[in-house]
Amino acid sequence: MNVRVTPTHRLAGAVEVPGDKSISHRAALVGALAEGRTEITGFLEGEDCQNTLKAVRALGASVTRKSPGHYLVDGAGLMGLAEPEDVIDCGNSGTTARLLLGVLAGQPFWSMLTGDDSLRRRPMGRVAEPLRRMGATVVGRDGGARLPLAVRGTRPLKALHFSSPVASAQVKTALLLAGLWADGPVTVEEPALSRDHTERMLASFGARLAAAPGRVSITPGGRLTGQPVAVPGDISSAAFFLVAGAMLPEAQITMKNVGVNPTRTGVLDALNRMGARITQEPEGIGGAAEPAADLSVSAAALRGTDIGGELIPRLIDEIPVLAVAACVAQGVTRIRDAAELRVKESDRIATIAAQLERMGAEISEQPDGLEIRGGRRLRGAVVQSGGDHRMAMALIVAGLAAEGATVVEDTACIATSFPGFLPALNGLAGGACAVEQP
Ligand code: S3P
Repeated sequence: MNVRVTPTHRLAGAVEVPGDKSISHRAALVGALAEGRTEITGFLEGEDCQNTLKAVRALGASVTRKSPGHYLVDGAGLMGLAEPEDVIDCGNSGTTARLLLGVLAGQPFWSMLTGDDSLRRRPMGRVAEPLRRMGATVVGRDGGARLPLAVRGTRPLKALHFSSPVASAQVKTALLLAGLWADGPVTVEEPALSRDHTERMLASFGARLAAAPGRVSITPGGRLTGQPVAVPGDISSAAFFLVAGAMLPEAQITMKNVGVNPTRTGVLDALNRMGARITQEPEGIGGAAEPAADLSVSAAALRGTDIGGELIPRLIDEIPVLAVAACVAQGVTRIRDAAELRVKESDRIATIAAQLERMGAEISEQPDGLEIRGGRRLRGAVVQSGGDHRMAMALIVAGLAAEGATVVEDTACIATSFPGFLPALNGLAGGACAVEQP
């Protein structure tokens, strides 16, 4: 499916941002492990989170859909999951696969995980290897480092102190979840703080967690009790509108109830440094102990900036669209310490550099990031998403600011995280069809 983007100067109004993907996955999974009922509102009905719902059903939790985004998960309890009858297909979702590996490591049965072409290329050894140290059997392709993987869990797992070489919330979460069935504490250290939704959610369900700078520990033996979870809007989806709103000369966009957990707000920091005009209205603690706020953005003159170090895990998924902002900004933007981008749904460093270059950007690929010389108008072109949802949406945003029409190829993947993206964008364009499927 291709999308044709007509450039526009004006995007105005309010837009509803879909539920946070990371929190939705965790609500389904932790709800499945809890005793009693977890009532989830604002659940993201994208393909990734649907895959997590299918997986927890296959493992014996009961899931009822009440209305859009409103689900009841009746958990099986920590000791109540059942051996799945078939291979669990995680589709495109790295979060589903890695978090499930942590859960399956603690189950006294066999299970098999697989995924689509992209997911089967992505590294799983970073999770499988520490789980083996805890006593689980994880075998499969590439020496047990790529899907399909078969897991034979064990109970209890061994306690673990693990220093992760990467700041990855998926690695951290998998090990904390496995720690629910360990014979002693599981501690994870990470080089920079990654998103902490798991810590917040497990604690609110009753798990025994302790966090100190650079590390988090779980002590087994707690009980998880079902909770209501109100999922806030996903700042990673809001990012496409934040950048569009900052770049387009007559833009004024507001978004209500967006998650502003400080481990996720790097995109706000980066855009503010670039001179964007973003306001954040009163913040409150929503469900699942997650802060949320209303965000507004309007046009501003952007300038280049440096993005690296501890900021990277706080904006890792927003780098494709930040690269688009950097093309328009005056001056140079350097993105470094972001080699993780090479093992996302696509090699995002290579894809963004190649596709924005087609649109006339002065952008060079670095081993761990990008260097972008901005300040020139992008021009419409035919570009490809590489089957990566965030690339597809970032390129559509680039097309809005370009001269001449852009065709973004291979955009069905948008349904992974933001099924309503195209209608939302056209709504802001006030009926003028900014994006269409020819
Ligand atoms: C996620 C963690 C990040 C992020 C991904 C979602 C999560 O991945 O890029 O989109 O929900 O835990 P890593 O943990 O691999 O950095």
